[in-house]
Amino acid sequence: MWQFKRAGGRFSQGPGAYGVKGHASYAGAMDASQQQGSKPILTITVNPALDISTSTERVSSGHKLRCGASRLDPGGGGVNVARVIQRLGGQTLAVYTAGGPTGEAYRRLIEAERIPSLAVRIQGSTRQDFTVDETSTGKQFRFVLQGPELSEPEWQACLDLVAGSMLAGGYVVASGSLPPGVPEDFYARIARLARQAGAHCVVDASGPALTEALAEGVFLVKPSLRELGLHFGAALEGEQSQVDAASALVADGAAEHVALTLGEAGALLASKSGLIRLTVPDVPVVSTVGAGDSFLGAFVLRLAQGRPLDAAFRAAVAAGSATVMTPATELCHRTDVERLEAELSNAVP
Ligand SMILES: Nc1ncnc2c1ncn2[C@@H]1O[C@H](COP(=O)(O)OP(=O)(O)OP(=O)(O)O)[C@@H](O)[C@H]1O
Ligand SMILES: [Mg+2]
Repeated sequence: MWQFKRAGGRFSQGPGAYGVKGHASYAGAMDASQQQGSKPILTITVNPALDISTSTERVSSGHKLRCGASRLDPGGGGVNVARVIQRLGGQTLAVYTAGGPTGEAYRRLIEAERIPSLAVRIQGSTRQDFTVDETSTGKQFRFVLQGPELSEPEWQACLDLVAGSMLAGGYVVASGSLPPGVPEDFYARIARLARQAGAHCVVDASGPALTEALAEGVFLVKPSLRELGLHFGAALEGEQSQVDAASALVADGAAEHVALTLGEAGALLASKSGLIRLTVPDVPVVSTVGAGDSFLGAFVLRLAQGRPLDAAFRAAVAAGSATVMTPATELCHRTDVERLEAELSNAVP
């Protein structure tokens, strides 16, 4: 029997303290997860974004661009991972920061989706991201705004909350960019806390945040080709250099598993037990936003459910590809994921 521990007294909502707002049903949701025989999954998002997406006929300067209907989504790496897991029938606890009127709108969206969550209140205002589909060309324009600066007590409150909520045998998914003010070793600190708690640390990050986490050592890392190339300071052209780079991280103890995602070319998984290479199933490509988060969500959920590594990896590719079938910021649908998962399983010799 496991349960996420509630945060301690320092999160009480007195003046000057960092308020933590929890979703009312989170304890019940965790019980549901336990009944499914799944290990607990916690996600942390320090730089969430309220995703606004819309469309216009043509993006050009000098005059007003009349847009079609708009859509609001609570985005950001860890929260997206939590939303995918929820869609696939699993449960997580999503820890995230929220501030200002945007943070309030963000929190309402999370609650509307009934995602078990704890929000750390911050002084700054949660950022917004803006995606515009150009209908005349099919092009997509993505404007990613800078996040608010976090003070040391604010990011420290996030770390304390993660430390107080993670459980032995469970998974902690640290995903997304770090906002200004948060130290580059933030994910490395989470990796250290996870090791102390006997939990599996999963990281999806780029640049120094990724490099620092790898120096600490993690359970699973999910770089894109660009992110892995940046880490090694090399272009990683050609499959052999990609295999060598992913395998080197495993050999060095930087990560037990390296899932290198290659967009339309599929993904590569390097582990002590060897390499697995998967190409993508044949799907109509509508919008690739959220493909990486969907890949990671399905991967971690299947591992938490006790599925073997190769099956979890197939589910990951299936979920990434199912997300590219949906428009704008919309994530994968469960029926598509399960159909593609079965397709990939049937293709195994
Ligand atoms: N064009 C595509 N066609 C089919 N599947 C795709 C396509 N692009 C991505 N995918 C699927 O999604 C997975 C993750 O994609 P990708 O490598 O683009 O992640 P990412 O770069 O982390 O994406 P993100 O922009 O979400 O961070 C791929 O391994 C693949 O399964
Ligand atoms: Mg990514």
